Amino acid sequence: MANIAMLGSGFIGRFYADSLQGQRSRDKIVSIYSRREESAKKFADDYQVAHWTLDMEEAIARPEVGVVCVSLPNNLHETAVNLCCKHKKAVICTKPLGRNAQEAKRMLEAVEKAGIFHGYLEDLVYTPKFLKALQSVQDGALGRILWAKSRETHPGPHSEWFWDKEQAGGGCMLDLGCHCVEIGRSFIGKDIKPVEVMCWADTQVKPIDAEDHAIGLVKYENGAIGQFEVSWTFRGGLDLRDEVMGTEGTIWLNSFLRTGFDMFTTGKGADYVAEKAESNTGWLFPVGDELNELGYNHMFTDMFNAMEAGKAPRESFYDGYVVNAILDAAYKSAASKKWEPVELEIWRGQEGVTKAKTLQDYNDQYYLVKEEMTHFGAKKLILKDKTTGQIIEQTIS
Ligand SMILES: NC(=O)c1ccc[n+]([C@@H]2O[C@H](COP(=O)([O-])OP(=O)(O)OC[C@H]3O[C@@H](n4cnc5c(N)ncnc54)[C@H](O)[C@@H]3O)[C@@H](O)[C@H]2O)c1
Repeated sequence: MANIAMLGSGFIGRFYADSLQGQRSRDKIVSIYSRREESAKKFADDYQVAHWTLDMEEAIARPEVGVVCVSLPNNLHETAVNLCCKHKKAVICTKPLGRNAQEAKRMLEAVEKAGIFHGYLEDLVYTPKFLKALQSVQDGALGRILWAKSRETHPGPHSEWFWDKEQAGGGCMLDLGCHCVEIGRSFIGKDIKPVEVMCWADTQVKPIDAEDHAIGLVKYENGAIGQFEVSWTFRGGLDLRDEVMGTEGTIWLNSFLRTGFDMFTTGKGADYVAEKAESNTGWLFPVGDELNELGYNHMFTDMFNAMEAGKAPRESFYDGYVVNAILDAAYKSAASKKWEPVELEIWRGQEGVTKAKTLQDYNDQYYLVKEEMTHFGAKKLILKDKTTGQIIEQTIS
């Protein structure tokens, strides 16, 4: 059983609380820190939290607190993490870990120096669909992974600080791209080094300094490519989709707008439909159990199981740091319009992995390029001569 101090009583603090104290959970929030008294008290009341405070350190330092959950705006993550180090409290922190890789690196080094448990709350690599897809990929069902694309787009965030580049650290690329990058990285292999990034980002619609739309490519050392598509200007709800392509197969995941639950209503009695839904009349795409579909339940289960077993969780501050480093390169590339290297001062995966050979023998003379059964009943073979390099075709009736 975990005794949790929750820092932040806003949007994600409440989603986390619903998951942490949902179903028959034994875990309990025992202290809530918020900026304003009104919201601290309301949170304490809604979730039966015994203690509330407007002093962050007081929440962390309380003796009954075993783990601290950081659900604060991005510019406050480092302050919160440093206080957890000071009081030697286990810490789990929402995404993105830092506003940039330097900030994330300092946090990683601080928790490791303090010797405290640390978890990175990247919920989208814990959704039931993702976990099953990842297992298939790891079991080899898709062969060698060539391309992993992840898309998160919605009409924009719900609080003012997200729109301020200084507090948030960036725009949609940092806010949503961090999810997509970790999804791609997981499918390609977290021990495979991300080497360079090419990215386009622009402010197409919103009156802000940061980008509200971006697309990026992340090249990995083994030749695989990750792709992210993010936007705060997308209309139509929360679009969460992943595609994975391997030499032996494909996976398409749609995690939110098409979960197999379609509903039509003229609007009578319509209210909340799903996160970032823009309409509550007409044809709708509700989500059965958002906490589960978004991965929060599996994420906290992994965090607390790991903590109790004295092990690292699947997602640690190290992962948060790597994600920040990839996104730093994306920002550089958006500005330079060139491929930019991913600067990883700390790298704990494989080094020097090369692209796998793809040649498939057909016989002693030829490599197989492709075979196809046509609509007119003939099987066509495209072959490459091993010595001359000539490409030929053969038709087998
Ligand atoms: N799926 C996800 O993992 C997910 C989703 C949304 C947000 N987040 C992350 O959670 C963190 C908080 O986001 P949110 O959506 O809950 O934001 P929010 O604005 O809804 O809530 C932030 C909370 O932080 C507290 N706070 C303390 N000092 C503050 C200050 N100076 N300014 C503003 N708030 C202050 C308040 O209690 C406030 O309610 C961010 O890092 C964000 O990226 C993660």
